[in-house]
Amino acid sequence: MKNLIEDIGVFEEHHELAEEPARTTDQNTGKSRKLYIESYGCQMNFSDSEIVASILQHEGFDTTSDLAEADLVFLNTCSIREKAELTVRKRLHHIQGFKKKKPELMVGILGCMAERLKTKLLEEEKIVDLVAGPDAYRDLPKLISQVDEGDKAVNTFLSREETYADVTPVRLNTNGVTAFISIMRGCDNMCSFCVVPFTRGRERSRDPHSIVAEAHDLFDKGFREVTLLGQNVDSYKWSKEENNKAKLEKKGIQKIISFANLLELVAQVHPDLRVRFSTSHPKDITDDVLHTMAKYENICKNIHLPAQSGSSRILELMNRGYTREWYLDKVQSIRNILGSTCSITSDMIAGYCSETEEDHQETLSLMDIVQYDYAYMFAYSERPGTLAAKKHEDDIPLEVKNRRLEEIITKQRQHAHFHHQQDVGTIQRVLIEGESRKNNTQWQGRTSSNHVAVFPKQNKAKGEYVNVLIERCTSGTLIGKIVD
Ligand code: SAH
Ligand code: SF4
Ligand code: F3S
Repeated sequence: MKNLIEDIGVFEEHHELAEEPARTTDQNTGKSRKLYIESYGCQMNFSDSEIVASILQHEGFDTTSDLAEADLVFLNTCSIREKAELTVRKRLHHIQGFKKKKPELMVGILGCMAERLKTKLLEEEKIVDLVAGPDAYRDLPKLISQVDEGDKAVNTFLSREETYADVTPVRLNTNGVTAFISIMRGCDNMCSFCVVPFTRGRERSRDPHSIVAEAHDLFDKGFREVTLLGQNVDSYKWSKEENNKAKLEKKGIQKIISFANLLELVAQVHPDLRVRFSTSHPKDITDDVLHTMAKYENICKNIHLPAQSGSSRILELMNRGYTREWYLDKVQSIRNILGSTCSITSDMIAGYCSETEEDHQETLSLMDIVQYDYAYMFAYSERPGTLAAKKHEDDIPLEVKNRRLEEIITKQRQHAHFHHQQDVGTIQRVLIEGESRKNNTQWQGRTSSNHVAVFPKQNKAKGEYVNVLIERCTSGTLIGKIVD
């Protein structure tokens, strides 16, 4: 898993670092039992692990980063591609070694794989004691007691309301500068390739008041950047019918809160609190969101707008709800309202069912037109139960998928390099997030458009904003010096 400091991709499992999960940080408040939690998949899972740690903290668990000293091991899992599930199965085999030495070690599977496989996981993986889906985390104390009493425990009930709005996350793996705030859960789209609607359930938006309060609290604790998370942030909606009107009006919050409204409320928390968000859906992103971004300097100028494919025929089969032309119109609106300095990033799938060479060429040509700053790129992986698995044949041979993926990756590298070169010679405002991983005399941070920059520390500290003159670049990093 790519370092959290560097990556705001909600939909992670980045191809280079997919094998590396984020592990628990140590917490020692003298509690009697130790929880070790590993998170796989998207940022939503990382965020959920912080909810889980919070719920269990009240139940006598401290977190540990050392598997050997754990009483309870949780793997918070992902089902997005077959490989993501295989990684977790391999990890379970490794954990089996620990359980042999310590038979009382409790092993739990959380997240999307738990939701997808339910009790089947208990049959297939004998070392698993507990299975809890993404909406069942409040039930964990009860499930743990069940296991304590010698039973296996399962809860994969999906809720229409649960947002964990009142649970204050325990920040794990934190750099103390950047944090994620989950603003909604689930997904009501039915992209034919995607397992998420089945593992995360129906879409629901979190109370805006609790979101703004969390942002205030983070700012007061020294954090300087928040990323608002949702599978489709543009469909965020808090309405008076669904929610408590009186309470919101008392706080001066409007009756219906759209994503643009929410973004503005969070941007107003403090001018020194940067705001990012992910993921935007091309069919739903509005000009209101773009105008709100233009209005506030502290809303970072980066939009993650996954295209998936450049071919209208494939987009239709994928049930994405837009065409190539619609997508390109959205990109034009971004350029018109925010100019060329707003970076655009994407997700791309190579080798979807029936994809021809012409369809693939359309994906490459779309990339040439948009010139993404960054992209997550994947070979199509059929997921059981999805619309695609039921209706479309996974008919593109693996070697063709991989060849097309390589072509997409090669093109993306060129575009990323181009964008980084454009920054050379400019002065960029960078938020210092921590030490450079390669050189401890240097700081690392990101520009508003989400390009990573490294520069000598001088006398500056983590969490400060600095102006950095970009002197040179690689395809992944800007290199410069502070000119404040
Ligand atoms: N909600 C986000 C995406 C969530 S999943 C959106 O709508 O864009 C993250 C990414 O994983 C997707 O954008 C897609 O590119 C990829 N993905 C999802 N299912 C996949 C599958 N079955 N095979 C390959 N890639 C997949
Ligand atoms: Fe999956 Fe589509 Fe929902 Fe994204 S919008 S999570 S790709 S179903
Ligand atoms: Fe995220 Fe993977 Fe689930 S991408 S929503 S953890 S299937």
